[in-house]
Amino acid sequence: MSVNIAIDGPAGAGKSTIAKAVAKELEFIYVDTGAMYRAMALYLLRQGLSSETTEKMGEACANAEISIVYENGAQQVMLNGENVTGLLRQEEVGNMASVSSAVPQIREKLVELQRILASKENVVMDGRDIGTCVLPNAEVKVYLTASARTRALRRCKELEEKGVSCVLEEIEADINERDHRDMTREISPLKQAEDAVLLDSSDMTIEEVKEAIISLYKKTKEA
Ligand code: DC
Repeated sequence: MSVNIAIDGPAGAGKSTIAKAVAKELEFIYVDTGAMYRAMALYLLRQGLSSETTEKMGEACANAEISIVYENGAQQVMLNGENVTGLLRQEEVGNMASVSSAVPQIREKLVELQRILASKENVVMDGRDIGTCVLPNAEVKVYLTASARTRALRRCKELEEKGVSCVLEEIEADINERDHRDMTREISPLKQAEDAVLLDSSDMTIEEVKEAIISLYKKTKEA
């Protein structure tokens, strides 16, 4: 049987960096579920839908075939046969994903894909509802968070490194808005699973967070 590590938390908490590092060390597969929601959002944007047209999204998603492949260990997201990985980090796509991920048909479709992956492979999967909904029996569950200001600073740094200028206050406002949407939506809202361990990365290094998760994993193996 495969081993599953679930890492949930708000945008910018460092989930993907940490999950990737943990997966590498344990030789597990890293599954970034946010990228799947982003690929779906990209599809909807390409269909000419806007975030105001949620009622059309359920039907539209039926024609989007999303799958995951790995290239040199890195997750690549395929949308109807096209590798769209490089297009998913744009703010427009992220904002659309935050809206479209609340649509039941979209969640059903992507949760099914996520469960299939986790049943076949040892995975470190990150997202918003992995411990609460997708993999309720995951061996390790972590809720990774950080203050909104810390997360905005990290995002700005990331953008500036790519040569994109940004205004910290705008990024922070965006983060707060997205948190609110993710935490208050009706289906699978972002929340800490009862049996998840809370880690606040505001004052922790990547290495410290990684080690904390690996030691949780080792404890479950010994138990
Ligand atoms: O982690 P991210 O920023 O790439 O996620 C993009 C959006 O997708 C985010 O606003 C919430 C949504 N999402 C979700 O609803 N469930 C998941 N398991 C992962 C992401």
